[in-house]
Amino acid sequence: MVEIEYKNTRVKLGASDLVYEPAEDSFLLADAALEEAEPCMRILEIGAGSGFVSAVLKANVKGIRILATEINPHAARCAKANEVEVIRTDLFRGLKPGSQKASFDLILFNPPYLPTSKEEKVPGWLNYAFDGGTSGRETLDRFLSEVRNYLKPGGKVLILISSITGLESVKEKMEKLGFEVDIVQRKKVSFEELMVVRGKLL
Ligand SMILES: C[S@@+](CC[C@H](N)C(=O)[O-])C[C@H]1O[C@@H](n2cnc3c(N)ncnc32)[C@H](O)[C@@H]1O
Repeated sequence: MVEIEYKNTRVKLGASDLVYEPAEDSFLLADAALEEAEPCMRILEIGAGSGFVSAVLKANVKGIRILATEINPHAARCAKANEVEVIRTDLFRGLKPGSQKASFDLILFNPPYLPTSKEEKVPGWLNYAFDGGTSGRETLDRFLSEVRNYLKPGGKVLILISSITGLESVKEKMEKLGFEVDIVQRKKVSFEELMVVRGKLL
């Protein structure tokens, strides 16, 4: 199995046609999460992929408790191989909103953020890593509509988006839902700019 090393963490990768391979977006979200995470926080990562972001956090922040969800069974298996506790499900399904177990200080998501037409879809489960629907925000919008049910008072979200996802639309939706919004990381990568958007529950 191929492995990569990042910030004192060795992460096993799945087959590249089945599981999203950590890339600049994953690194940017991991860096932002490392700045935000504090010892003993309860953290949820939606769409863990290989488990890269959660594994990096576990290796670098003392006493944090991380749970992840992932819709792609191959990715969920890979995250487990990286010792990430993962539930194979759609977004938050299977978590009981309001219960102590499903209440988090910080929730992370590197969603499928590319506007995608029918012709651009890739075959199989890997499509979930890229396909943001025609707007690029279909999965992200579903996530945003539900996320506050799983946050503690004053809890935060960190979301990776690209300039082509539409920062203003994402910001507007988050503000309407009661988040104070700022950008904590930015990186230009070829034709797009990647950003980590932080939302803090007011
Ligand atoms: C861009 S990849 C990011 C993977 C990993 N977090 C990283 O940063 O390397 C998006 C991941 O979200 C997963 N995903 C997409 N839609 C999902 C959904 N509705 N519920 C759970 N996971 C989902 C995909 O299968 C994919 O693994």
